[in-house]
Amino acid sequence: MNIIGIIASQRKAGNTAFIINQLLEGAKKQGAETEAFGFSNLDIKPCRGCNRCKQSNRGCVIKDDMQKISDALEHADAIVLGLPIYMGQMSAQGKIFTDRLYARFSPRFSPFFKENAVKQKLILSFNQGNPDANLFKPYIDYTKRMFEILEFDVNAIPVITGMRNGPAYEREDLRTSLKDFGSALVLEESPK
Ligand SMILES: Cc1cc2nc3c(=O)[nH]c(=O)nc-3n(C[C@H](O)[C@H](O)[C@H](O)COP(=O)(O)O)c2cc1C
Repeated sequence: MNIIGIIASQRKAGNTAFIINQLLEGAKKQGAETEAFGFSNLDIKPCRGCNRCKQSNRGCVIKDDMQKISDALEHADAIVLGLPIYMGQMSAQGKIFTDRLYARFSPRFSPFFKENAVKQKLILSFNQGNPDANLFKPYIDYTKRMFEILEFDVNAIPVITGMRNGPAYEREDLRTSLKDFGSALVLEESPK
């Protein structure tokens, strides 16, 4: 199983990076191939809305680090999208990444609209400062639905709360539960 993680935060050693890395480590222990991509060392520009991706088979015309991710995205069995909540929504980096998926949905370019194509698994991994897990539930439900409309199989949404109380890496309970979550991702996929 091939799993990639996207860290939609600029903070190299931030909470989202920790969460995604722990999840992937758990998956790796069960034999998955994993790779993480983070906005701290990627230059990914916003979609220009030029619609050139709809006019050819060459995908997005913006030449930046999204191309480094594109190949991995194409071949991933599962994508774990790490989204910190900034001002009640996914971070700007998360939105830039999401908008840039537009090129993949070009009718000519996208593998997603093939007849009977297997939907790609997407895990939306939210984290937030506030301790109340239900605070942004309407937004999180809406985001899940949005990705489902984009033909992703959104199968689980861990919402990690209370980041205002200290960095994620200091929470031993989190380290264990994230590794277990990553491990379960692979075990659920394995033939019984
Ligand atoms: C600009 C900004 C806005 C934030 N807005 C919220 C918010 O609306 N609600 C909340 O619970 N936490 C909010 N937070 C806290 C972050 O969600 C939390 O610290 C998160 O773990 C940051 O992840 P990172 O370290 O990977 O960037 C905000 C943090 C920043 C920097």
